[in-house]
Amino acid sequence: MSNFDELKREALLAIQGAESVVRLRDVEVKYLGRSGRLTEVLRGLKDVPENERKEKGKEANALREVLEREIAKCQSQLQDADHERKLAAEKIDITRPGKKHHKGSLHPLTVIRRDIEQIFGTMGFTVAEGPEVETEFYNFDALNIPADHPARDMWDTFWIKGKKLKTEGKKLLLRTHTSPVQVRYMQTHTPPFRIIAPGRVFRYEATDASHEIQFYQLEGLMVGRDISLAHFKQVMQTFLGTLFGKDMNVRLRPSYFPFVEPGAEVDMSCVQCGGRGCSVCKQTGWVEIAGAGMVHPHVFASAGLNPKDWQGFAFGFGIDRVAMMKYKIPDIRMFYQNDVRFLKQF
Ligand code: DAH
Repeated sequence: MSNFDELKREALLAIQGAESVVRLRDVEVKYLGRSGRLTEVLRGLKDVPENERKEKGKEANALREVLEREIAKCQSQLQDADHERKLAAEKIDITRPGKKHHKGSLHPLTVIRRDIEQIFGTMGFTVAEGPEVETEFYNFDALNIPADHPARDMWDTFWIKGKKLKTEGKKLLLRTHTSPVQVRYMQTHTPPFRIIAPGRVFRYEATDASHEIQFYQLEGLMVGRDISLAHFKQVMQTFLGTLFGKDMNVRLRPSYFPFVEPGAEVDMSCVQCGGRGCSVCKQTGWVEIAGAGMVHPHVFASAGLNPKDWQGFAFGFGIDRVAMMKYKIPDIRMFYQNDVRFLKQF
């Protein structure tokens, strides 16, 4: 009798002392397993004298039931505790502020190019395009700048090495301005028309705060029977006034570009001081913004249009320069450094 009590006491202690489901399983094996302590006792019953066997067997089975019940109870307690612990560890505080998502933004040059396209769009100008790798013909010859013309020095050019293209004017280069789009457009369209051609251009020169080897230009071209510089001045004033959100004056100073005659340098009122004079405009009240003029007869001719039938104005300006004035950016190189602190301000 006493060894059953002893076994029960020991087993119950072990069961209650098991601190995890795995340990509890060990205890179960130790007492109720195939060669467990109680199992051994049950097996040994066959050697017990006949008269005691029944009684002992009863007691042994009763003990097994007690232990099984106790194990099941402990197991469910341990599982509950495990579950609670897991829940506590995985708890999510839904009141905490979320993590910030870093959104990208449009590049300032994209923003301003879209604004410019929109403004010219309201005046009936559509957008035209041309290749960045251009031929010598479109970039120079067709624009009235033949090979030995001194005006070629106005554009320091990246020539493209490689297969020598024999045909005259077929040498390849990175376009130095957007003016070749004028010729390409006039070759394929019949006037009257008005277009703008924004795009990237390249110059083989040293960089500084106002020069980059690549930047963006916008070419404009309006051709009809009687288009004049008066139209140009109005277009330019409307464009600048809308872009800068205030009345803008425009003046033309005589200048020279091979593809226009007459040619002009275009000044606008200084955005900084409104024309009163400041350090930005060197006290003149004017800031140079574009080149322009009446399309040269040679340019019409090289595009296959008769200069006696058509006339119009062309102009070109740097988009970067306009963006620098609008956003007060001191150095053109900032556009191309991809410094997030700069970019995320737009
Ligand atoms: N293509 C010139 C340049 O890059 C700018 C320019 C001047 C364009 C006069 C024009 C123009 O269309 O008429 O310096």
